[in-house]
Amino acid sequence: MTDTKRVALAFSGGLDTTVCVPLLEEEYGYDEVVGVTVDVGQPDYEFAEAEETAEALDLEHYVVDATEEFAALCFDAVRANASYQGYPLGTALARPVIATAILEVAEEQGCSGLAHGCTGKGNDQLRFEAVWRDSDMEVIAPVRELGLTRKWEQEYAAERELPVEGGDEGKYSIDTNLWSRSIEGSELEEPGYVPPEDIYMWTTAPTGETRELELSFEEGYPVALDGETYEPVELIETLNDIAGDYGVGRSDIMEDRMLGLKVRENYEHPAATVLLSAHEALESLVLTKEERSFKKQVDHEWSEKGYQGLVDAPLVGALEGFIAKTQERVTGTVTIRLEGGQARAVGRESPYAVYSAEAASFNTEDVLGGIEQNDATGVAKYHGFQERLANRAIEHGKE
Ligand code: ARG
Repeated sequence: MTDTKRVALAFSGGLDTTVCVPLLEEEYGYDEVVGVTVDVGQPDYEFAEAEETAEALDLEHYVVDATEEFAALCFDAVRANASYQGYPLGTALARPVIATAILEVAEEQGCSGLAHGCTGKGNDQLRFEAVWRDSDMEVIAPVRELGLTRKWEQEYAAERELPVEGGDEGKYSIDTNLWSRSIEGSELEEPGYVPPEDIYMWTTAPTGETRELELSFEEGYPVALDGETYEPVELIETLNDIAGDYGVGRSDIMEDRMLGLKVRENYEHPAATVLLSAHEALESLVLTKEERSFKKQVDHEWSEKGYQGLVDAPLVGALEGFIAKTQERVTGTVTIRLEGGQARAVGRESPYAVYSAEAASFNTEDVLGGIEQNDATGVAKYHGFQERLANRAIEHGKE
């Protein structure tokens, strides 16, 4: 046992990770492969597939539940209004959670190596390795390092009689977790190709139906739906179900990947869309104009690091200092209407509302220090003063 070399593999039971199992022994000199599947809210059949394939491969296999941790990170993302080019970051946020869980299993199971089945084109190799390269383990990416193609993998699997059902996993490449479902590949790669309805599993095309939901937040964290308290995982699952039926949360974007590639991506993310719209609506009620505009920059930087899979960066910690301070007042309730594929805020309430009915309507003359309507006269006289001076100077200069 002492000299046995063991490697932990991020394992899904798909073609890439299945061919990695024998390759880690044959090409990388490991005696034993430990497959690890991390639960971040994938559908049940994905676990069934992983279990079945692991059994058929006689692979030592562990399933780790990281749903709560992942949901907590998604809620941090809500506080940061996080999205990258219109994508609320499901895959990107899940990767560091998955990588960390695998590293823990690897340590417990006496492994000296960590492996993933990502290709050399995508973002996920970078996100996994950013976590793993902080350990003493050997990091291995067989698909990338051996230059494997899908065709080669299919032939290899057939030759070795690996349990991959001929390597046919359906037309598209799908990545699903609590926060988003991503669909890519096949004809969808062509930016001009209009996606057929059947790529969607979480959302149905919007009908004329509408529904209103009441979302409550405490310090920027979503806590209740229609007055009922929910744990994060439950709330996300419930909102995916409800809002998906109204076609909410579809996006079709040209995404700029970290390595420079531009890729066409389709996503579904009903819960993320509802929570992000509600959260922003509440912020618009309680934050000052300057806070809102500065926070846009903070949120943008948070989202960039989120996309890169670097949520542990010192920058993110610093940004979260600002975010936490602003979120102290992001407590209240937002009414969201699901309508025509949109989740639109139609009402908002908070004890911290900066809005004041008296101030807006001048119903009393004594709002904060006795300001009266007529006090605006001086402001109105000055407004645009410098612009008028400058425009005159321009006219004079021409003469
Ligand atoms: N492009 C997205 C990202 O980097 C998601 C990719 C998901 N993978 C997939 N096979 N659909 O975050």
